[in-house]
Amino acid sequence: MGKSVIVFYYSKSGNTRAIAEKIVESFSELGASNVDVTHMDATELDLQTLKSADGYIIGTPNYFSAPSGYVKVFFDEIFEDRALLEGRPVFCFISHGGSGDIEHLRSLCDWIKLNTVGPAIVVRGKNITSSVESDIKRNITKMLELL
Ligand SMILES: Cc1cc2nc3c(=O)[nH]c(=O)nc-3n(C[C@H](O)[C@H](O)[C@H](O)COP(=O)(O)O)c2cc1C
Repeated sequence: MGKSVIVFYYSKSGNTRAIAEKIVESFSELGASNVDVTHMDATELDLQTLKSADGYIIGTPNYFSAPSGYVKVFFDEIFEDRALLEGRPVFCFISHGGSGDIEHLRSLCDWIKLNTVGPAIVVRGKNITSSVESDIKRNITKMLELL
C-alpha cells in the first residue's frame, strides 16, 4: 500500500502556506510519486486523517516564539493517542518576521515521540533561499527512507 504524508500547517497572511506549497512541489521534484502528499489547514483539523498518516510535516508562523494555537491544538488533542504515532517521521518549518524560534514546535513533536528528521526549516517571511530549498529536499529524502 502507498504511504501518506500530511503537510499540516497554519498560515494567516500566506507565508507559511507558500513554504507548505514549496514542500509539496519538492516531493514531486524528487520523484516521490508513490507517496500521497496532502495539505491540511490547521483550522480544519481532522484528527482521524492525521492519525492514519505515515509521516508529518508541520508548519506554523512564529507567534511570540511559539507555534500558532491552531497548530498546538493538534498536539493537545493527539496526546492521549500518542502511542499510535510513536516513531513516525516528522519535520517542522516556521515562518517568522525577524526572529525565528522553532524549538517550541520541535519539543511538541518530541512530547508525542515523533521522529524528527533533518535540519529545522526556518524562513523569514516567505524568503525560501537556496539553502532552505536544499534543506527541504534533504529532509524529504530522509523521510522517504523512513516511511
Ligand atoms: C500574533 C503574532 C505574533 C508574532 N510573533 C512573532 C515573533 O515572536 N517573532 C517573529 O519573528 N515574528 C512574529 N510574528 C510575525 C510572523 O511570524 C510572520 O509575519 C509570519 O511570516 C506570518 O506567517 P503567515 O504569513 O503564514 O501568517 C508575529 C505575528 C503575529 C500576527
